Amino acid sequence: MKAKTVSSASSVYKMMNQLPRAEELGNSLFLVVDSYFRNKPVMKNWISRLEKSAEVVVYWVQAGEELKNLTRFADHVLRIQKLLGPKFGKNFCIVGVGGGSVGDFSGFLASVYKRGVPHVQIPSTLLAAIDSAHGGKNGLNVGGVKNQIGTIYPPRRVLIVKELFKNHNPDRCLEAYGELYKMAWIQGGELWNSLNQMKRIDLESMWVGLPQAIAAKYKVVKKDPRNFRTSSYFEFRPHDGACFRKLLSFASWLGCFGGNGFCFFL
Ligand SMILES: NC(=O)c1ccc[n+]([C@@H]2O[C@H](COP(=O)([O-])OP(=O)(O)OC[C@H]3O[C@@H](n4cnc5c(N)ncnc54)[C@H](O)[C@@H]3O)[C@@H](O)[C@H]2O)c1
Repeated sequence: MKAKTVSSASSVYKMMNQLPRAEELGNSLFLVVDSYFRNKPVMKNWISRLEKSAEVVVYWVQAGEELKNLTRFADHVLRIQKLLGPKFGKNFCIVGVGGGSVGDFSGFLASVYKRGVPHVQIPSTLLAAIDSAHGGKNGLNVGGVKNQIGTIYPPRRVLIVKELFKNHNPDRCLEAYGELYKMAWIQGGELWNSLNQMKRIDLESMWVGLPQAIAAKYKVVKKDPRNFRTSSYFEFRPHDGACFRKLLSFASWLGCFGGNGFCFFL
């Protein structure tokens, strides 16, 4: 399958400081939002701003693997049908705001609801901003096994919004750094060099590294949209061990060696 939609990565994704205005999204918006943000002023303010110039329906979801449970999907669709009623027709855009689980759920929903409606991803974890929000791969879990049912449905746009990452705790940053490191290992070159120059693992440094990481992701997606062969790119490269040592020291410092981030990276 050819990944036509990623021929120009920069037109697909955009980095911005604040959540987008309605004009960037459309007149009829179905927002699938991680309930982590339910009482956060940033989300409340954004939704009220959108409501001033667009028809907006919000569907709050609990992030995590249960959201991706296929057996629950029909219940979600029934609730969504009731929420949307007849007013939206087929001319609306599904905007997923959250980490990878919300991205997978909203992407899958967009790909099958009314046989497909436009999808915009607004990743709220750095991990999703680097990886899962791009390329259109989505998956639901079946019988506890991850990503057994899914589609490849590239989002119209991926909007990476800095203000959403402000409350990331250090181990989430480390997780994202793990992904960045993996990509740098695969890619070498400029990404690898800038990772070596990274002095700290925090939002500011990750923000600077994001465009290169995303470019690396689109390169892989372009070669292999279904990511079947990704593991074959992940071979040992004879770079110096500075990044690896840095990752080890940060992981031990945070006491999460063997925890989420590091296991994920491996
Ligand atoms: N489709 C793909 O290509 C792809 C690639 C990699 C991973 N994934 C999927 O992504 C999922 C993991 O995604 P994830 O780790 O990005 O997040 P997630 O959606 O699983 O969320 C993890 C936690 O972070 C919280 N959270 C979200 N945004 C936050 C923020 N800004 N500040 C603080 N907490 C926040 C959520 O509420 C949740 O508790 C898995 O289901 C995995 O299968 C998909």
